[in-house]
Amino acid sequence: MKLLIFVLINALGLGVSISENETKVVLVQAMFRHGIRSVLLKYPNDTKGSIWDKYGGLGQLTPVGMRQLYNFGTFFRNKYQSFLNPTYDRTRVFARSTDYDRTLQSCYSFLSSVYKPNSDQRWAPVTDLNWLPIPVHTANLSDDRILHANAECPRYDELRNTSRSTPEYLALQSSNQNFLDNMTRLSGLTNLNQYMIWQIADKAMVEEAHNLTLDQYIIDNYDRIMEMNDYTFYIDFVTDEMGRLISGGLLNDIVNNIKKKVSGSKNELYIYTVHDNYVSGMQKILNTSTNFVQPNFASGFVFELRNDTSGNYYIQVLYKNNKPWEPDHLTPVKVNGCEFLCPLNQFYQKQQQVHYL
Ligand SMILES: *[C@@H]1O[C@H](CO)[C@@H](O)[C@H](O)[C@H]1NC(C)=O
Ligand SMILES: *[C@@H]1O[C@H](CO)[C@@H](O)[C@H](O)[C@H]1NC(C)=O
Ligand SMILES: *[C@@H]1O[C@H](CO)[C@@H](O)[C@H](O)[C@H]1NC(C)=O
Ligand SMILES: *[C@@H]1O[C@H](CO)[C@@H](O)[C@H](O)[C@H]1NC(C)=O
Ligand SMILES: *[C@@H]1O[C@H](CO)[C@@H](O)[C@H](O)[C@H]1NC(C)=O
Ligand SMILES: *[C@@H]1O[C@H](CO)[C@@H](O)[C@H](O)[C@H]1NC(C)=O
Ligand SMILES: *[C@@H]1O[C@H](CO)[C@@H](O)[C@H](O)[C@H]1NC(C)=O
Ligand SMILES: *[C@@H]1O[C@H](CO)[C@@H](O)[C@H](O)[C@H]1NC(C)=O
Repeated sequence: MKLLIFVLINALGLGVSISENETKVVLVQAMFRHGIRSVLLKYPNDTKGSIWDKYGGLGQLTPVGMRQLYNFGTFFRNKYQSFLNPTYDRTRVFARSTDYDRTLQSCYSFLSSVYKPNSDQRWAPVTDLNWLPIPVHTANLSDDRILHANAECPRYDELRNTSRSTPEYLALQSSNQNFLDNMTRLSGLTNLNQYMIWQIADKAMVEEAHNLTLDQYIIDNYDRIMEMNDYTFYIDFVTDEMGRLISGGLLNDIVNNIKKKVSGSKNELYIYTVHDNYVSGMQKILNTSTNFVQPNFASGFVFELRNDTSGNYYIQVLYKNNKPWEPDHLTPVKVNGCEFLCPLNQFYQKQQQVHYL
């Protein structure tokens, strides 16, 4: 009888609590935002605008960002040391990036510390260049079938227009109008409104990450600027559909990779380098967050496929949201209300129910 109940409980996937150390990683997939970059636009009243020129101008991964991803790669290699192949094997690794210089370079920076060349792979004419070029795949922005946030999407625009024109939203914007007028005057920007405040928040975060002194008007209004900026990420992902339109293609790809692995593929690692909205979209569709804030540079998700000694598969999802100056760490999250170690069938079911994958 005891055995029967045990078997039943297991079959239903209920109440099974298996701990991580009773399972082994069989596939790791990571998606994360590019690293620290220069600002995205020129600021009329900025006295330090030209400091970005030496890094290639606006929106470019800076050496600080490269190091951030390199360090994350080192952390990642240590964490998965016993699982990952010691060196790069093209049949086991696949990397994909949006077609932006900053995401491509983030991916290269990360991979450069995950896989160092072995003696057969060494090639560099200088002995101290301990680096192996690892391919990163991409697709034209407007035509990317997996990472498609940059493609035209009238439905997403419509939903976002709706969430930016509710009475609540408009009331909030008007309650911030004096503040926005002040920010307009002090920054010299002419297009500030409730969501365009990101332009000032971004400048603050970028300058902080480079140890630059913030402009006095930003220091004086820091919390309010950040709060308004974070709210934009909530507004952009009010409904599941909004999350799915941005990050559904990526989640679908991740699920397909899991299916391929379970049916025998050799892959050990998939890497996707993306942007903050993909991270928010993923938070939305995995239902891992009720408190929407802008994802930090190089933040994102790691999806582990694990199995136990009986061959049962599980998904464990981990979130990385380190601020630039914090050491790297990954936090397990529950996806769609499932256990931390979510039995694979339940994971599939949740994705099918919610996201029609
Ligand atoms: C696995 O971890 C759990 C809790 O973290 C611990 O109680 C248990 O003893 C561990 N089991 C093994 C086999 O190491
Ligand atoms: C990428 O897409 C843009 C916009 O649709 C198009 O103008 C451009 O030719 C495409 N580039 C390539 C290499 O296909
Ligand atoms: C969304 O709003 C913008 C600005 O008001 C407008 O230009 C655009 O046509 C709208 N798009 C949709 C799909 O409603
Ligand atoms: C706007 O700036 C004026 C002048 O510095 C100040 O008195 C006022 O409190 C500010 N308003 C807000 C909402 O920040
Ligand atoms: C910011 O720039 C605007 C327009 O260029 C100018 O009118 C304003 O005085 C400047 N404000 C400050 C605080 O420098
Ligand atoms: C910024 O300052 C901190 C603390 O002094 C230091 O650890 C960090 O490396 C600096 N970052 C940069 C980009 O200079
Ligand atoms: C766990 O999964 C790996 C990869 O799919 C497979 O090779 C291995 O046999 C599985 N373990 C068990 C106990 O089924
Ligand atoms: C999402 O998570 C919240 C708790 O964080 C829970 O109350 C809610 O039921 C979940 N929704 C779904 C569709 O899983």
